[in-house]
Amino acid sequence: MILSDQALDQLFREARTHNGWQQKPVDDAVLKQLIELVLLGPTSANSSPGRFVFVKTQEGKEKLRPALSPGNLEKTMAAPVTAIVGMDMEFYEHLPKLFPHADARSWFAGNDKAIADTAFRNSTLQGGYLILAARALGLDTGAMSGFDAAKVDEAFFAGTTVKSNFLINLGYGDPSKLFPRSPRFAFDEAARIV
Ligand SMILES: Cc1cc2nc3c(=O)[nH]c(=O)nc-3n(C[C@H](O)[C@H](O)[C@H](O)COP(=O)(O)O)c2cc1C
Repeated sequence: MILSDQALDQLFREARTHNGWQQKPVDDAVLKQLIELVLLGPTSANSSPGRFVFVKTQEGKEKLRPALSPGNLEKTMAAPVTAIVGMDMEFYEHLPKLFPHADARSWFAGNDKAIADTAFRNSTLQGGYLILAARALGLDTGAMSGFDAAKVDEAFFAGTTVKSNFLINLGYGDPSKLFPRSPRFAFDEAARIV
């Protein structure tokens, strides 16, 4: 079954990266539903390295503030929720549970390049699933890589094996703060069929 035009509009054609937010909170129940969907998205060897912190409180936002680039500061402080998409650099310790039919842990343990590549690739994918799942649940999103990762890691992941990958503001967007949609490539510029 192909999704309706209305669903495709909501997920892609009319969905935008938001810079302003309505004063409308996001229920914790919606965030739980969101993560349940995200965790069903595919990752290599089901490695599921993504770890997610939903920064909702003023106290949490103040911990985030010093790490934000100037252009991302005001909108992030105003967003009802900022998701930190992190990656567990010891994701492979969970593979006996997540990929029980093979010794997948041994593919990674001691192989720093495979660990770094797999953590980054798959947590980034999971962040992408989060953007689309949020849109499917009626939320708006604003992804950001303009922040000081070392500061976020110190403030939120000290003493853990998790590192930050990127941030996603979540809430109900204020359409008056949108920039005009930037152009996209045509098929031939970005893709080919061989
Ligand atoms: C991983 C990622 C990082 C981004 N970083 C920033 C950022 O730091 N600041 C910002 O204002 N926008 C950021 N953006 C938003 C993009 O510029 C935006 O998604 C793109 O221009 C397309 O806009 P549209 O979704 O409204 O069509 C980021 C988007 C992604 C996916």
